[in-house]
Amino acid sequence: MSGVVPAGPRLILLCGLPGAGKTTLARRLAQELPAVRLCPDEWMVDLGFDRFDGRARDRVEQRLWLLAQELMSQGAVVILENGFWDRAERDEKRRLARSLGAAVELRYLAVSSKELHERVGRRNQEPGAAVITPELLRECEASLDVPTDEELELFDDPLG
Ligand SMILES: Nc1ncnc2c1ncn2[C@@H]1O[C@H](COP(=O)(O)OP(=O)(O)OP(=O)(O)O)[C@@H](O)[C@H]1O
Ligand SMILES: [Mg+2]
Repeated sequence: MSGVVPAGPRLILLCGLPGAGKTTLARRLAQELPAVRLCPDEWMVDLGFDRFDGRARDRVEQRLWLLAQELMSQGAVVILENGFWDRAERDEKRRLARSLGAAVELRYLAVSSKELHERVGRRNQEPGAAVITPELLRECEASLDVPTDEELELFDDPLG
């Protein structure tokens, strides 16, 4: 649906593990919809924080959420690339965005464990990559609340 102007504010939550393809999808959607893409990882790096500094990440994510709300209140479509592994966090974002009158999408990027490990292994070889070890990736996999069909039904249909 390239070129179609979306009607009103919208929040798009990208849920998925490291290497699932959140940034790749967000870049495409940002062009096509159009939408504003907010990627905590990029802000962490650009602000000089270590990507694994959890306290800084919490603060960056909180600040980006304020920006997301401002953008939605002006009618924008906002993509958040946070990963959203926790169901409770997804519920909270859906509720708050709806209270601003925004539609809310949840897009879950389902990728097999084998494929994820291969992708992350390849990315670890790239210069300057934030290395995610196989052990850390397995911990991430164990931490993800995979969205159920029942949960996905609570969100709006995806644009584009
Ligand atoms: N649909 C796809 N099919 C095959 N490879 C893909 C796909 N989407 C992304 N990739 C590749 O997988 C790797 C990870 O993609 P991307 O950076 O978009 O993931 P991410 O979810 O943003 O990861 P992170 O959470 O670590 O930021 C990249 O090398 C990308 O080119
Ligand atoms: Mg990314």
